This record gives sequence, C-alpha cells and structure tokens, in this order.
Amino acid sequence: MEAAKSVLGLSLFSIFQLNLVVSAADIYSRNDFPPGFVFGASTSAFQYEGAATEDGRTPSIWDNFTHPGNMHGANADIASDGYHKYKEDVQLMAHTGLDAYRFSISWSRLIPNGRGPVNMKGLQYYNNLINELIRNGIQPHVTLLHADLPQALEDEYGGWINRKILRDFTAYADVCFREFGDRVLHWTTLNEPNVFVLGGYDIGFLPPQRCSASSPLNCSKGNSSTEPYMAAHNILLAHAAVAKLYKKQYQDKQHGFIGLNLCSYWFVPLTNTTKDVIATQRANDFYIDWYMHPLVYGDYPSSMKKVAGSRMPPFSNYESKQVKGSFDFIGLNFYLTMYVKDYPSSLEMEHRDVLADMALELLLFQYNASTFEYPILPWGLKRFLEHFKEAYGNPPIYIHENGQRTRRNSSLEDWPRVEYLNAYIGSVLDAIRNGSNTRGYFTWSFVDVFEMLDGYESSYGLYYVDMDDPDLRRYPKLSAKWYSEFLKGKSMDRNGVIQLNDTSFLDAQFTH
Ligand SMILES: *[C@@H]1O[C@H](CO)[C@@H](O)[C@H](O)[C@H]1NC(C)=O
Ligand SMILES: *[C@@H]1O[C@H](CO)[C@@H](O)[C@H](O)[C@H]1NC(C)=O
Ligand SMILES: *[C@@H]1O[C@H](CO)[C@@H](O)[C@H](O)[C@H]1NC(C)=O
Ligand SMILES: *[C@@H]1O[C@H](CO)[C@@H](O)[C@H](O)[C@H]1NC(C)=O
Ligand SMILES: *[C@@H]1O[C@H](CO)[C@@H](O)[C@H](O)[C@H]1NC(C)=O
Ligand SMILES: *[C@@H]1O[C@H](CO)[C@@H](O)[C@H](O)[C@H]1NC(C)=O
Ligand SMILES: *[C@@H]1O[C@H](CO)[C@@H](O)[C@H](O)[C@H]1NC(C)=O
Ligand SMILES: *[C@@H]1O[C@H](CO)[C@@H](O)[C@H](O)[C@H]1NC(C)=O
Repeated sequence: MEAAKSVLGLSLFSIFQLNLVVSAADIYSRNDFPPGFVFGASTSAFQYEGAATEDGRTPSIWDNFTHPGNMHGANADIASDGYHKYKEDVQLMAHTGLDAYRFSISWSRLIPNGRGPVNMKGLQYYNNLINELIRNGIQPHVTLLHADLPQALEDEYGGWINRKILRDFTAYADVCFREFGDRVLHWTTLNEPNVFVLGGYDIGFLPPQRCSASSPLNCSKGNSSTEPYMAAHNILLAHAAVAKLYKKQYQDKQHGFIGLNLCSYWFVPLTNTTKDVIATQRANDFYIDWYMHPLVYGDYPSSMKKVAGSRMPPFSNYESKQVKGSFDFIGLNFYLTMYVKDYPSSLEMEHRDVLADMALELLLFQYNASTFEYPILPWGLKRFLEHFKEAYGNPPIYIHENGQRTRRNSSLEDWPRVEYLNAYIGSVLDAIRNGSNTRGYFTWSFVDVFEMLDGYESSYGLYYVDMDDPDLRRYPKLSAKWYSEFLKGKSMDRNGVIQLNDTSFLDAQFTH
C-alpha cells in the first residue's frame, strides 16, 4: 500500500486500481453480511461528553487522574463537547448511514457521587440523546461503565476492590434499565475490564493508579499481587448481579440483551518452539479466559488458579451459578495482533504480580512509532473471532471497537484508516462465512475524542474535531466517506480498489 499512497498523493480523488485482476471473493459489500447485522460507531461518556462540572456531574476517577497532568497535561473537561453537540452529531450519524451508535453513560452525571438521588439534568441529557437517535432510526447500544467510576466511591471504599461496589453498581444499573430500557435494547455492563484491571491495579499507570510500592510506578497505595485478582472477581460478580437483575425484572417486558465487553489482542507464538506455543495459550488464558471461562463454565481457568494460588479469590457455588451463563452476547474491542515469547524467569520472583504470573513477553508486529499507525493484519481478527467459536460455544459477538490510530493532527485524507477498515471489515465477513456468530461491528471512534492512552496526541475518529475552533466544528475524514459509501451498499475490494471519486462529501462542512 505504500506505493498506492504515493500514487494517491498525486491524484487523490481519481479512481485507481491496485489490482487489475480482482477475484470475486475479494469484493464485498454490506449485503454480504447476514440480515440484521448492525454497523455502527462508538464513543464513551468521559472521552466524548466534556461538560465535566456542568449540571451536577461530579468527578470520576478519570477526572482525578487527568487533572494533575498525568496525560500530557490533557484532560476531558471539554473533550468533544458531546454534551452540547449531540444533536449535531446524531445528524452526522444519520448522514453517514450508521445503523447503531455505541456510547456509555457517565455514572457520576446520572447519580452524582455514585449513590443516592438521580440527577434530573443528567437523566434529561441521556433521554434527549436516546430520543434523538431513535428519531433518526439509529439503535442505541449502551455501556453502563466505560472506566469512569465515580471518584466518590473510590474515596469511600476503594471502588472495585470492595464488594460494596456490587450494591451501588446494581442500583445504578437499575436506574438505567428503568429509565432508558424501553428504548435501549443492547446493554453492556462494563467496557474492557480486563485491560483496566491490569492498568489500574497491577501496573498502576491508569486510574485508580494502585500498585505495589515496590513496582516501577511506585504507587502510593495498592498491591499488584492481589488486587488485580480481587478487582476482577468483584467485576465478574457485579456484572453477574446486573445481568441477573436485567433478566429477572426487565428482559420479559423490554426484550433487550445484556453482555460484557473485553479487549484483547490476537496472539501468535514468536517461534514454533513448544515453549512459545504454550506461552501463547497462557496469553489467551490471562487476557480472555480469565473472564470468559467463568462466564461460560462458572470458574476460573485451572492454569490461572494454579499459578495465582490463594491470591485468586474462589467462587462459592452460589457465585459460580450466578456468573455462569450471565450474558446474551460478548462485546469485543480489537486493534492489534501480538507475538508471544515465553519468559519463565518471572515465575521466580518472590512477590509476583499478574504480569509475572503470565511469564511471557508481548511483542508488537511491525509498528511505526512516528506515525502511531497500527499495522494492518486482518487475519488476526478472523482468528480471534474463530477462537470464540471454538473455545466458548460460538456466543453472539458484537465487535464494539476496531479502528486505526493516527496522529490527531494528521491529514483529513486518512488513508491508513480507510485501509484498516477496508481490510478488517472484510476479515469479519470471512469469520462469519466460517461460522462465527458475530452480529455487529462498531468502529472506534465516531468523532475524535479524548484518547485514554494518548490524550489528544492520537485519534481514531471518522470525523475530525477542530479543537482550535471554540465551536469544536466537525470535519469528515476520508474514512467517514469510505464508511458511508460502504454503509450505503457500495462494493469494496479488500485488496485495495477504492473508488472515492466524489469529493463533495469530504469538502462539505456539516453545519446543522
Ligand atoms: C478529585 O477531584 C475533585 C475535584 O477536582 C477534588 O475535589 C478531590 O479532592 C479529588 N480527589 C482525590 C482523591 O484526588
Ligand atoms: C500483598 O498482599 C499479600 C497478601 O495479603 C501480602 O502477602 C503481600 O506482602 C502484599 N504485598 C505488598 C507489596 O504489599
Ligand atoms: C516511592 O515514592 C516515595 C514517596 O514519594 C519515595 O519516598 C520512595 O523513595 C519511592 N520509591 C522508589 C522505589 O522510587
Ligand atoms: C510456525 O509454523 C507455521 C506452520 O507450519 C508457519 O506457518 C510459521 O511460519 C512458523 N512460524 C515461525 C516463526 O517459524
Ligand atoms: C515511519 O513513517 C514515516 C512516515 O511515513 C517514514 O518517513 C519513516 O521512515 C517510517 N519509519 C520507519 C522506521 O519505518
Ligand atoms: C503534529 O504533532 C506533532 C507532535 O504532537 C508535531 O511533531 C507535528 O509537527 C505536528 N504536525 C502538524 C502538521 O501540525
Ligand atoms: C474456519 O475455522 C476453523 C476453526 O474454527 C479453522 O480451523 C479453519 O481453518 C477455518 N477455515 C477457513 C476456511 O478459514
Ligand atoms: C464515480 O465513479 C463511478 C464509477 O465507479 C461513476 O459511476 C460515478 O458517476 C462517478 N462519480 C463522479 C461524481 O464522478
């Protein structure tokens, strides 16, 4: 594709063909996907809404984390200003042709401080957003908690390391189901807890920034040996409690679905030696099976129980029954494929954290740190989806996030993102043709947002948000044009035939 890019530099909007001979199987359109398959795009409350202190919202752990300047000095006080610009954005979604929009609710906007009375202004915001989506024929897919736990609950009892969180999370979910469940049919309890447990309780570089004092980040509180396992346990129990509430009290009348979201890489052994092949299995255990095994079989994988020993809380019979089968679908965030190398010496450490328990090293495939762009390896997503088919009885899956990272200030002509979407959406089709029960695909992100790992240095959006403009005007990138044409039925060639000769969409400024 490098050659294609330089061709494009000269003649950006002409029809071009990389492959003169194209086999039929390389061409796909949305009509090749099963009936009812939904295509959408995602954001999350903290990363999109802004209005951090407006109308009664109180801080989340991400507000407190970003305010001392932990994220290159960036914070999400304004972010994409979605709190004020949601109507305009829903018009853009309709214009783009999205079937569905995935967003999350800010717990501390709906219930300030995490517990107690509902904030009427927060309730009104989410009702307005949901109504606007429905009016435009766009399905709302809602996540209850996308990392932004109310700071008040962290301060009061330590958030996810305390079982008290089960009661408060369930009460919050109850408000959401009661108030929005007549219109929202797809509920996700938590966004990628598997990654945030490692970042927030083991390494400690993400909120709530807990880790052992002896670990490289020298956190002021925490225990990387035990707390990640405790937090994950409480997360699974809280997910199960909320799923049970939905199934018992709401599902019969609201007819919706509930699931949990996980984020993972696809893993391949660095070499074909037995030790790297086994280490690759371990990587799947720690990233996926840690959560999926309890959800499908009611207990942790035996390999993990063996290595973590008493640091891994056991499920009681009652808990095991609650957790087993507590989902209608699994949401997956997928961006990258990683090489796995065995690293047995970490098992010799005296106080092992989860990373040491994994006893492996992860290595990125070719990656250009100057452009930030992710390598395009679509077979990784196909294999990832096939793994869910093989290991977990082929559950319904929604791809909740998948997208290309670029520098925030790079060109609106975001060819790397067009290439990425073109290739990965094709790989989802391949997986479906090979039996995967995937029901929907959401790209991350609809507009540029505050990125949790990069602040405003990188972006994934289909639409650029001009942060130098006080009105934060949105501008479509080429990827918005590509996705829109795909959604409207145009045939795409995964090997590179891209026909984007109509430049009007790219030049248009949307001023609704
Ligand atoms: C979190 O942020 C709020 C608002 O800035 C502040 O009042 C509070 O003290 C902070 N809490 C912690 C634990 O840093
Ligand atoms: C973490 O907790 C375990 C179990 O309570 C304890 O043995 C260990 O010393 C603690 N580690 C740190 C670094 O505090
Ligand atoms: C960790 O931080 C504390 C307090 O800032 C400091 O006293 C201590 O020396 C630090 N430890 C390491 C290993 O950096
Ligand atoms: C490992 O074996 C597979 C199948 O034989 C092969 O495709 C792959 O290239 C090998 N990988 C390495 C790193 O040698
Ligand atoms: C990374 O990408 C930039 C821009 O395309 C290019 O100039 C540079 O040579 C690349 N670096 C590497 C190490 O590939
Ligand atoms: C984009 O930002 C990077 C660093 O943040 C900077 O080095 C580069 O010059 C910027 N490019 C443009 C076109 O502003
Ligand atoms: C289909 O998936 C199975 C695993 O479930 C895999 O072994 C097989 O290679 C895949 N077939 C194709 C044609 O991709
Ligand atoms: C774009 O190309 C298609 C053929 O691929 C053609 O039918 C269409 O008229 C062209 N549109 C414009 C605006 O040139």
